[in-house]
Amino acid sequence: MFTQADIQNALKAVKYPGFSRDIVSFGLVKEISAADGAVNVLLQLTSASPAAAQQIKEESERVLKTLPGVIQVHVEVQQPAAGQGAPANPFENQNRVPGVKRVIAIASGKGGVGKSTVSANLACAFKHLGAKVGLLDCDIYGPSIPLMMGVHEKPTISEQEQLVPPVGHGVKVMSIGLLLTDEQPVIWRGPMITKTIQQFLMAVEWSELDFLLVDLPPGTGDAQLSLCQTVPLDGGVIVTTPQEASLGVVRKGIAMFNKVNVPILGIVENMSYFTAPNGERVEIFGHGGGRTEAGRQSVPFLGEIPIFTEIREGGDQGTPIVVSTPNHPAGKCFIEIARSLRNCLK
Ligand SMILES: Nc1ncnc2c1ncn2[C@@H]1O[C@H](COP(=O)(O)OP(=O)(O)OP(=O)(O)O)[C@@H](O)[C@H]1O
Ligand SMILES: [Mg+2]
Repeated sequence: MFTQADIQNALKAVKYPGFSRDIVSFGLVKEISAADGAVNVLLQLTSASPAAAQQIKEESERVLKTLPGVIQVHVEVQQPAAGQGAPANPFENQNRVPGVKRVIAIASGKGGVGKSTVSANLACAFKHLGAKVGLLDCDIYGPSIPLMMGVHEKPTISEQEQLVPPVGHGVKVMSIGLLLTDEQPVIWRGPMITKTIQQFLMAVEWSELDFLLVDLPPGTGDAQLSLCQTVPLDGGVIVTTPQEASLGVVRKGIAMFNKVNVPILGIVENMSYFTAPNGERVEIFGHGGGRTEAGRQSVPFLGEIPIFTEIREGGDQGTPIVVSTPNHPAGKCFIEIARSLRNCLK
């Protein structure tokens, strides 16, 4: 017999018309009930387009009828009436970044777990795989991407009055750190952060990109929300370290993405272990927490990255290890993670 989870899974095959994302990840499925082979599903759309509603209804009914044991299917689609004020939707002003195929956010609930290191290396790993890549640093208070990517020139302004991002290791880079001098602390409040992030997405000449990676600050604050409200994200990657203290906040990170209907692409466990000079494996923060948590939350586990002095040195010197030594075990880990992300976003 089929379960509610089977029904939900089946509905993941239904894409929102015009989007690469499915109706489940958009949070449109409000109710599922099933009894004696009969399935009832309630979907709540935010758009008033009758064509979109019809298409989603037909497609949902079609996929549910293929489930073994299903005899009867009823899909009800509720939507705001055309012309009448739809309920205020904080995401209705989302726009895709022109020319950018996929936007991926790198996040964690906790500081210092290696988000920026993972973002910089993954950006270079996508480049290594032949993709066109941009890297946007949304950490307004503590931008570290310019240092890690070895990019220090200021963006120029194009004839269309767009910011032209400088390029490091073949990756287009934008960060508040490129616009301000080192000594200036940023003391902005929420609305200015929102405005800056909107401009970083829409007033930067990203041109044609296969992937735009976004390095987020720790936590679930203004930057995260502004990003989610400005563009539809294709997914979020959560970085964690193995110990329980980090995993608690991972759950918060996952809950944040779920709340704004951003699919979780997976969890990366950073600083998994350290290999001592005598070859002994030292698990400084414990081991395996990321994989266990991924299992618990039913999200993919993308891989583990050990502690290597060369990773930290690469970050401080502005040449990520994927660029300096792609054959280093850590370089290979990052390239493998980029490969699996590319495959799951095809
Ligand atoms: N696997 C690793 N091996 C060795 N050093 C690492 C590793 N991952 C990160 N580091 C180092 O740890 C420090 C913190 O990493 P990073 O700045 O990427 O974390 P973050 O999560 O972005 O921090 P913040 O929350 O402040 O933005 C950096 O000096 C970085 O070089
Ligand atoms: Mg960081």
